[in-house]
Amino acid sequence: MPTLLEKLQRVDPDYYTPEVVSPMEACLERIRDLKRARNAVILAHNYQRPEIFEVADFLGDSLGLSLDATRVGDAEVIVFCGVHFMAETAKILNPAKRVLLPNLAAGCSLADTATGPAVRARKEELRDLHPDLQVVSYVNTTAEVKAESDACCTSSNAVSVVRAMESRTILFIPDQNLARHVAQHVPEKTIIAWDGYCYVHHQITADSIIAMRTQFPGIQILVHPECRDDVVALADASLSTSGMVEFAKASRAQEFLAVTECGLSDLLQIQVPEKTFYRACKICRFMKAISLEDVEESLKQNRFEITIDETTREGAKQALTKMFELTGGSRDNLALPRSVADE
Ligand code: 13P
Ligand code: SF4
Repeated sequence: MPTLLEKLQRVDPDYYTPEVVSPMEACLERIRDLKRARNAVILAHNYQRPEIFEVADFLGDSLGLSLDATRVGDAEVIVFCGVHFMAETAKILNPAKRVLLPNLAAGCSLADTATGPAVRARKEELRDLHPDLQVVSYVNTTAEVKAESDACCTSSNAVSVVRAMESRTILFIPDQNLARHVAQHVPEKTIIAWDGYCYVHHQITADSIIAMRTQFPGIQILVHPECRDDVVALADASLSTSGMVEFAKASRAQEFLAVTECGLSDLLQIQVPEKTFYRACKICRFMKAISLEDVEESLKQNRFEITIDETTREGAKQALTKMFELTGGSRDNLALPRSVADE
């Protein structure tokens, strides 16, 4: 078993020096004790800082973590190391548990592009033209927006959810890039996109990916569907974050480029050390807001508790339940244009 220092040095040997890692080890021990004392579990998204992975009971993408949030058993406290809408999703599905987000700076600018009143107004405007309109909202939305939606989806099941909706006209909120990805895979429906985008994925340019492919011709390029369409067009596979990890593990290829937030490249480096991962990633300031110290304080002081009014929670829960019903909790294979088996 590699030591914590060895694992973290795989990610960044210049930052994770013995002087930096030693206090982290002590903090990790205190967090493990607090977890036991508080009967708490920690859910962490794949983009978190690598030291957070060490205390995660569940680690995954948005879909995996929403499913995990329903499987925490007798735990009384859920500490969510991710961003606000993810912690809200855990609370929507587990109203009886105390759900904590260790740092309130962990928001999401994509989720913030849509508000409940704005979605209500857009629905009314569009219903005159499209009486059968239904709303599918990406899980990267507030509880208020989920409550205005007929179903939720994540990056790994967006195509399946939209295809299975009763209506032929879908207002897709809030990511325009994921909306376009869905429209390409479900040509029989009209997709009306909200005009939001993720600032992290939108910064990544096709030129930067072409330059990497020219330098390393054998690499497999894995792209998150929140990227621009000219970037997705260069991908060997367009996948959710956990989809990328599974692909890299299962593939016979040795060299990869994960085109998404940098935390995913860190995770790949730790979990698949025998393969090579080049970087064309950007950092999400929201996903990196939570530190180990925040997690410790969160467990000590119940910081910061997620609350949702019951009417909104019920509405949002219906949209999440519809997603689970339509997909049976499974992943969307169409997110994978060229399957690993085809290589
Ligand atoms: P995943 O569901 O693919 O992990 O994506 C979450 C996210 O916020 C991407 O920016
Ligand atoms: Fe939001 Fe983009 Fe950050 Fe994901 S990567 S949390 S979508 S800002």
